[in-house]
Amino acid sequence: MKTLVLANQKGGVGKSAVATLLAYHFAQKGQRVLAIDLDHQGNLSRPLQASKRAAVAGFTSDLVMTSGATALPASPFALVPFGPDLLAMERQPQQHTPFARAMRAFLVQAAAQFDVCVIDTNPNPDIRLIAALASADFVLSPIQLNQEALDGVTSLLNHERVGLRKIKAVLNPRLHFIGLLPTLVEPTPFQKENFVQVIERYGSLMIRIGDGAGQFARIPKRSAIAEAQAAGEVLWEMKKTAARDAWREIEPSIVRIATIVTSVQAPEPSHAAAA
Ligand SMILES: Nc1ncnc2c1ncn2[C@@H]1O[C@H](COP(=O)(O)OP(=O)(O)O)[C@@H](O)[C@H]1O
Ligand SMILES: [Mg+2]
Repeated sequence: MKTLVLANQKGGVGKSAVATLLAYHFAQKGQRVLAIDLDHQGNLSRPLQASKRAAVAGFTSDLVMTSGATALPASPFALVPFGPDLLAMERQPQQHTPFARAMRAFLVQAAAQFDVCVIDTNPNPDIRLIAALASADFVLSPIQLNQEALDGVTSLLNHERVGLRKIKAVLNPRLHFIGLLPTLVEPTPFQKENFVQVIERYGSLMIRIGDGAGQFARIPKRSAIAEAQAAGEVLWEMKKTAARDAWREIEPSIVRIATIVTSVQAPEPSHAAAA
């Protein structure tokens, strides 16, 4: 099983929307998909539940970290939804190592039943995010093209607790950073300028979808994407032309990310402790 975590300490950058699209895409391609929602806001759980595509586990994601998880649904597409106690986990520091170990043990077990696990995370730099990153194979970071978000990339990489460089160095050397995914992209002069800036500063962290200049994965801002999220519909199955147009625009980016997850071999597991 390949485990992909969506991570960025900024909220509202499209993490949950991208997690949802990827989960549907993997399922449509015949992969057995386990989706885990670690965000107490539940923005991955709601669309997956509303669409009725995923079988919902009989336990919530906080129990994944407290060793309280029971059997997963025997379905090729399952969801572990958000739970009420997710926010409280950070306040139990003496439990953090057991939380991370329980998450790892859960994923090891789930690997017998699923091909891909998509984990959506909360913007708080807390133990949920750390536990997910400590056991994942891949991490993808949606970003928005505004100055604040660009400054946030430094923190995303170098934050002393949840920075990806730190996690890789200390907790999970096999974590593969797929890259930065600009989301909610608008064709304004301001954003175009910022896109150029991101390429200049972080070009090596962007996800190529072609050889040409500027051919990097990105998700434009499209109302159909927000509508699909709100209504629990699968974007490419929606009747509206706008939805199909939006899917056509983002398909190369989604396919590229999915291909990396399913085909790139993560390095051998290391002996680094879970936390
Ligand atoms: N590409 C997009 N185009 C239009 N709206 C989007 C897009 N991506 C996300 N949204 C909407 O923006 C809001 C924030 O997105 P969300 O995925 O919940 O962000 P995050 O998980 O990073 O907090 C949601 O209302 C969502 O439906
Ligand atoms: Mg979210």
